Amino acid sequence: MEEELELESIDGIGPVTKQKLSDAGIRNILDLVVRGPLGISEATGLDLDKATTICNKARTKLVELGKLGKDFVTATEIYKKRQMIERISTGSSKLDELLGGGIETQAITEFYGEYGTGKTQICHTLCVMVQLPKESKGLDAGAIYIDTEGTFRPERVYTIAQKKGLDPEKALEKIMVAKAYNSSHQELILDEVGKMIEKINARLLIIDSAVAHYRAEFLGRGTLAERQQRLNRFMHMLMRIAETYNIAVVATNQIQSTPDTFYGDPFRAAGGHVVAHTSTYRIYLKRSGKNRVARMVDSPYHPEVEVIFTLTDGGISDPEEKKKSNH
Ligand SMILES: Nc1ncnc2c1ncn2[C@@H]1O[C@H](COP(=O)(O)OP(=O)(O)O)[C@@H](O)[C@H]1O
Ligand SMILES: [Mg+2]
Repeated sequence: MEEELELESIDGIGPVTKQKLSDAGIRNILDLVVRGPLGISEATGLDLDKATTICNKARTKLVELGKLGKDFVTATEIYKKRQMIERISTGSSKLDELLGGGIETQAITEFYGEYGTGKTQICHTLCVMVQLPKESKGLDAGAIYIDTEGTFRPERVYTIAQKKGLDPEKALEKIMVAKAYNSSHQELILDEVGKMIEKINARLLIIDSAVAHYRAEFLGRGTLAERQQRLNRFMHMLMRIAETYNIAVVATNQIQSTPDTFYGDPFRAAGGHVVAHTSTYRIYLKRSGKNRVARMVDSPYHPEVEVIFTLTDGGISDPEEKKKSNH
């Protein structure tokens, strides 16, 4: 690990505090910033004031090291940081166009839609696409997949990798998968993500789905506020990971056509808003016969157009008709 990122380099972190942090899996300054004061305090038992002080110092240090932007920066500096954004192709040229060239690093891209609209297929495809060389619109890097619904299928990755001309066995080695059994476990896994990103040089973090556990666990109206708060923290941590490590985060989110409860679907208003406000880009998916329609929602600089893509054995692609008419 880079020496300059060591916990000891922050004054206020003596041996005892360092031990507490290490025991909680916080290895360096990047981890401090990603977890945030509340996360540090809860994981270590340090009081919130102390955790806040440490976290602020860690931020300052990262700013000095040029790894994080200052609070106030010139537009030029933001421009420069945005120049570092890279893109991963989805495998469909139309969907890429909608996204302005592919999935972006330093951002959360949310795909939401009903069951069977292809969210998980997009995730599988991206895990392969990120591994392609840059000439082929990948980032020559690995992927991390947090599976909360038990729908990750290595066989799909194998086939997609084969169709994209990669060695499928090597492709599987470059994807680290964590299965999250409940919302607390999902949050714990995120604490370990930084380490994994460095270990496999990941440029893509997938969370399929972000919301399912929260939705299942917090059912009554009385627990709505807590669910919202927990989900909010989870989403903000995703955002900090995207920015700190310059990686692309993809989150899926399910909606249902039938309301969950007699009062209307409380999730849709609550979790929906939390996720919506934190996601950088939101893509709504729906079925259209055998194809799927994608629409960019609420983006300040993407037109609200719809594009059509399709689900194939080789992953996401442009519809067949389109390809034929090109020949
Ligand atoms: N090997 C495949 N070839 C073509 N289409 C597939 C393949 N595997 C899955 N699909 C398509 O993907 C759909 C499921 O999409 P999925 O991504 O699981 O939906 P969601 O995650 O949005 O619920 C299936 O209905 C099917 O149309
Ligand atoms: Mg799915």
